Amino acid sequence: MPLIDRCIVHLVTDGAHTFFNPISGGYLVTDDLGARAIELMQKLDDEDEVIESLAGILGSDSLSTAARYVTFTDTLKARGLLEKPLPVTGSLPTPFFGFIEVTRQCQTMCRICAIDTGRGSNIVLTLDEIKAIVDQFKAIGVKMVALTGGDPLVRDDLLDILRYVRSKDLIAGFSTSLLSLSEQLASALGELDVKVQVSLDGSKPETNDYNRGKGSFERARRGIDLLNKHGVEFRIAFCIMKHNIGDSPDMVDLAERLGAREVAFRKVKLLGRALRLKDEVYPSPEEMTRAYTLLYRAAYDRMDKGLRINAKYNSVFFGGRGSDYKRLPCGAGRNIIHITYKGDIVPCSLFTEDKFVQGNAKQDAIAEVWEKSELLNCFRTTSVDDIPKCKTCRYRYFCGGGCRAEAYFLEGDLLGNCCDCEDLIQFYDYFLSCIAKSSPKVSL
Ligand SMILES: C[S@@+](CC[C@H](N)C(=O)[O-])C[C@H]1O[C@@H](n2cnc3c(N)ncnc32)[C@H](O)[C@@H]1O
Ligand code: SF4
Ligand code: SF4
Repeated sequence: MPLIDRCIVHLVTDGAHTFFNPISGGYLVTDDLGARAIELMQKLDDEDEVIESLAGILGSDSLSTAARYVTFTDTLKARGLLEKPLPVTGSLPTPFFGFIEVTRQCQTMCRICAIDTGRGSNIVLTLDEIKAIVDQFKAIGVKMVALTGGDPLVRDDLLDILRYVRSKDLIAGFSTSLLSLSEQLASALGELDVKVQVSLDGSKPETNDYNRGKGSFERARRGIDLLNKHGVEFRIAFCIMKHNIGDSPDMVDLAERLGAREVAFRKVKLLGRALRLKDEVYPSPEEMTRAYTLLYRAAYDRMDKGLRINAKYNSVFFGGRGSDYKRLPCGAGRNIIHITYKGDIVPCSLFTEDKFVQGNAKQDAIAEVWEKSELLNCFRTTSVDDIPKCKTCRYRYFCGGGCRAEAYFLEGDLLGNCCDCEDLIQFYDYFLSCIAKSSPKVSL
């Protein structure tokens, strides 16, 4: 095994070499000599051979070269460049999140709703059916039950569902636009220790209400005041669109002021109703690069200050992707399981077409589906190296190949190209070149 893993990305800009380890998230900027040393360490598994080769390049004796080599590798180690993948076990993963669509109804009717709420809105899982699903989740090791939809707040028995989840000692949460939270419900959520995701697409009424409807910002703000009053932990989900992309730094500030635990930014996906609005809502790669850069800065500045900023680049720049760095970027088949409003068991909220249905939780054992489904196994075993366009991309181990649902709906192929590609390549190129310019070069 070579001394440095070959997954390390090497980018050359203006004579500076940036090496980035996607396993640890560590990076180092070096000069030509340092780059030669790292390249040798990526080829060879014997330190003496590396030192001999370097002594030849430097024209110096082995002893003094060895001393320089040791100092250099100490720096590489401290910067996470030497981290290698641990063997990835082939055992069945345990899903952390169990999602249940408790309704398709929604008072909000967002312009870009990927779920296209309204369709199939009369069908719902009954309270007993939901309880049985929660029991099955518990049995397969799910730790958090996340209710989604539609908007869970439209259900009169929402509290009964959440009480049941908590009675099983599971974390309970739901996602909502928070238009109609009563004081009574807020107080019960606080007592039950329920986590709430508030979807807010702007830091002010103009930006949020464009998508979520007039008055929705003020209503959500009142709801957040109630959450705070009753000590309910919440995070904010912000869907990045053309009209609100410039508002993302203000959203970070607002989330901080409101006391959110996390603010998550996701680019609008061209699915459901958003598909018909592409020209109006879809941000350009240049706009995304600017937004990612500002968000990176905000996330960096706020590290350890209570508010987590969750955006696409985070996993690799803050802590790396770990030993399983070749995996697809989402949790389908690994840490999430999703049940639709009809009880269908699907890989995630976006793969709900009949052909992706792996069983139905009203009749089938979720455990068996989780273990035996070919599609779920395919998500587990497919790596970014299996995606034709990605296998030669230098950022593939940063990115993981993008959302497979978008690739499928765009190209009719699970291994097709995803929409975020240009944004990410531009952002990573720009970001690594900034690192190269602003970091001192470490030499051998
Ligand atoms: C489908 S909603 C369901 C729960 C609830 N109604 C809400 O809005 O939070 C779940 C999340 O998906 C996001 N979402 C909906 N359509 C989307 C799209 N086309 N692209 C990206 N995110 C989208 C919403 O903003 C929300 O944060
Ligand atoms: S994104 Fe959520 S709030 Fe908006 S229409 Fe869809 S389900 Fe309703
Ligand atoms: S940036 Fe594009 S080509 Fe590269 S891995 Fe990601 S999706 Fe694939």
